[in-house]
Amino acid sequence: MLINPYKIKITIIGGAGHIGLPLGILFADKGVNVTLYDKNYYAVKKINNCQLPFMEDKGKELLKKNKKRIFATTNKNSISKSDIIIVCIGTPVKDNKPDLFYFFKLFKEIKNLLRPDQLLIIRSSIYPGTCKKIHQFLGKKFTNISYCPERVVQGKSISELPKLPQVISGISGRSIIASKTLFKLICKKIIITSILEAELIKLFSNAWRYINFSISNEFYMICENLGVDFNRLRKNMINGYERNKNIPTAGFAAGPCLYKDTTQLNAFLKKSFRLGSVSTKINQGLPNFIYKKLILKFKDQLKSMTIGILGLTFKSDIDDLRDSLALELLKLLKKHKLNVIFSDEYASLKKNVSKEKLISKSDIIIIGSPHTIYKKLIIPKNKYLVDIWSFFE
Ligand SMILES: NC(=O)c1ccc[n+]([C@@H]2O[C@H](COP(=O)([O-])OP(=O)(O)OC[C@H]3O[C@@H](n4cnc5c(N)ncnc54)[C@H](O)[C@@H]3O)[C@@H](O)[C@H]2O)c1
Repeated sequence: MLINPYKIKITIIGGAGHIGLPLGILFADKGVNVTLYDKNYYAVKKINNCQLPFMEDKGKELLKKNKKRIFATTNKNSISKSDIIIVCIGTPVKDNKPDLFYFFKLFKEIKNLLRPDQLLIIRSSIYPGTCKKIHQFLGKKFTNISYCPERVVQGKSISELPKLPQVISGISGRSIIASKTLFKLICKKIIITSILEAELIKLFSNAWRYINFSISNEFYMICENLGVDFNRLRKNMINGYERNKNIPTAGFAAGPCLYKDTTQLNAFLKKSFRLGSVSTKINQGLPNFIYKKLILKFKDQLKSMTIGILGLTFKSDIDDLRDSLALELLKLLKKHKLNVIFSDEYASLKKNVSKEKLISKSDIIIIGSPHTIYKKLIIPKNKYLVDIWSFFE
C-alpha cells in the first residue's frame, strides 16, 4: 500500500478527543486530508470553528493554519470514503477491569463501512489481545490492521509527537509497511514490534511511571508519619548523588492513562501484577492519607475549619478532571461533612471560587493540582499548607 499524503484520506474515529485531534492536526499539517469523526456534537462544532474543546499546547494555531484540510463531523459515512481509519476512542476501566463494551460496539456500528483494502489503525490504549479480537470480528480478509500506540503526555502532543519514536505492529507485513509510511510523515523514528509486544510496551510504559510515582508517595507517607519533611529529604538525597536523581516528587499520580493502564495490565494478568496492585493501593490511597493526617492534627477542631483545594484536574496545566485524585479528595472531605471549597480556573465546575478567595477563606490549603499560574501566589504563614508536590518549595 503506497501512501501519497496529497491523495490519501484519513478518518480519525474519536477525532475530537485528546489523542485524535492533535494527531489529525499534525497529519493535516503534512498535507493529508483528515476527517475527524466523533459523537461529541459540541466538540465537533468547536473544531470546525477553529476552537479546541480542551487545552492543547500550540493546537489552536496549527488547527487554524490547516483549516482547509481538516473537517470534523458526527456523520460516520466518511469512514467508507477513507483510505486509512485510525481509532482513538476512549478505553476506560470500570470496577478495576477494562470496559471494552463501547470499543467493540464501535466496530459493530462501523463494520459495514469498512473494506479489506483500507488500512485500519488502532491507536487507543488496549487490553492485550484486543487487536486479535478485532481481526477475528472483522473476518480473515481484513489483514490491513495495525496497532500503533500513543505515548504522548496529555496536552503536549503537538510538540512531543514529532520527537517520540512510534511503535508499529500489524496483522500483516502490508499493514506494517503502510503504517510506517504514514507515521514517517510526522515522526522521526519508527520501531517495529509484534502486536503483543506493542500492546505491552504501551501498558508497561505507563505502569513503570505509575510505580515510580508510588515509590515517592510511599516515602512521602513514611516521612509524614515520622514528622520528617520528604521534600527536603528528597533534595538532600539527590544532592551530589547521581544515582538518586530520577526520584520523582510525591504527588497525586492519577489520570486516564497511568492509573488506567496499570489497572488494564493487572486485569490482563488476572490480578497477579503485584507491583501494579501495590502501586495502585499507594497512589489511590493518598487522599485518604491526607484526610486522616488532618483528623490527627486538628481533631474535633477540623469540623469548624475551612479546607481549600487549589487545583482539581488530574495533573497540572490541563483542564481534564478524569480520574483526578484531587477530585476524589474533595468528595472524601465532603463525605465527612467538612467545610471544603475549591478553585480551578481550567476545570469548569459549579461552586468554583477564585484562587485569591480560596486563599483568604481557607484555614487549610491543599495543593490538588500544581498549575504553573499558582507560582506567583503567596500563601500567608497563618494558613496550614498541604503541599505534597513540593510546589512552593
Ligand atoms: N489522553 C492521553 O494523554 C492519552 C495518551 C496516550 C494514550 N491515550 C489513549 O487514547 C485513547 C483515547 O483517549 P483520549 O484521552 O483521547 O480520550 P477522549 O475521551 O479525550 O477522546 C475520545 C473521543 O472519542 C469519542 N468517541 C467515543 N466513542 C465514540 C464512537 N463510538 N464513535 C465516535 N466517537 C466516539 C468521544 O466523544 C471523545 O471525543 C484511550 O484509549 C487512551 O487510553 C490517551
